[in-house]
Amino acid sequence: MKKRLFVIGNWKMNMTRAQAKAFLRKLKVPQSARGTVGIAASHTLLPDMKFPRGVVACGQDVSAYESGPYTGDVSAKQLKDVKVQYCLVGHSERRLFHRESSEVVARKAVQLQQQGIIPIICVGETAQDRKQGKTKKVLAQQLKQSLQGVNVGSCVIAYEPVWAISTFQKTRHTQTATLKDIQEAHTYIRQVMNRQKVGVGKKVPVLYGGSVTARTSADIMALSGVDGVLVGGASLVVSSFTDIINNALHV
Ligand code: PGA
Repeated sequence: MKKRLFVIGNWKMNMTRAQAKAFLRKLKVPQSARGTVGIAASHTLLPDMKFPRGVVACGQDVSAYESGPYTGDVSAKQLKDVKVQYCLVGHSERRLFHRESSEVVARKAVQLQQQGIIPIICVGETAQDRKQGKTKKVLAQQLKQSLQGVNVGSCVIAYEPVWAISTFQKTRHTQTATLKDIQEAHTYIRQVMNRQKVGVGKKVPVLYGGSVTARTSADIMALSGVDGVLVGGASLVVSSFTDIINNALHV
């Protein structure tokens, strides 16, 4: 049976409205595409984005609060208002640059679910965690704490080893996660999810992110236990993002 895969682009803090418009005009998603293709774009871009058929709007972050005096924050309700269907929470750039704890990540995920938006909860160990043999411990802890109060039957998990994300690499392509690294982590994440709720480990979509390119995406998506990819840098170029979407068709 062919898999139903997720291909989610994470544009991070890139693109102006004109650039986004030009990108979307060129983006073609094949009719036969199964699964979910989405783009997580900056809040300023979302209201204007005319997504081609088969592409959904995603957010990159959300407030942990419902509404009120939280200057600079954007609420789940406001994301819903601009038709966001999925939203990243706990991306390592939020955890590290904004000191977001897993408890905060959980509150954000709950806010999203209250609005019917599916949270894509990001977890992943740092290079140091891995070197110290703490990968599993860190993943288990991040998952447990980031899922407090969250309906685990209605979320997506993204495994993004921090050391493999292009942002954190000193030299591009020096440290890409191997297929074995990815497979092991995904298997473990499913075991931990099962501890949260029996049976959920099998059902919850678990995506991989970290320097995914058109060249590597097919092998990654073909791994058992991998339900798709979260793509940063390669999602900013129409041709490479399109190639990744097309690769998903053949897995
Ligand atoms: P990258 O980013 O593909 O550029 O490594 C992935 C991410 O941070 O989601």
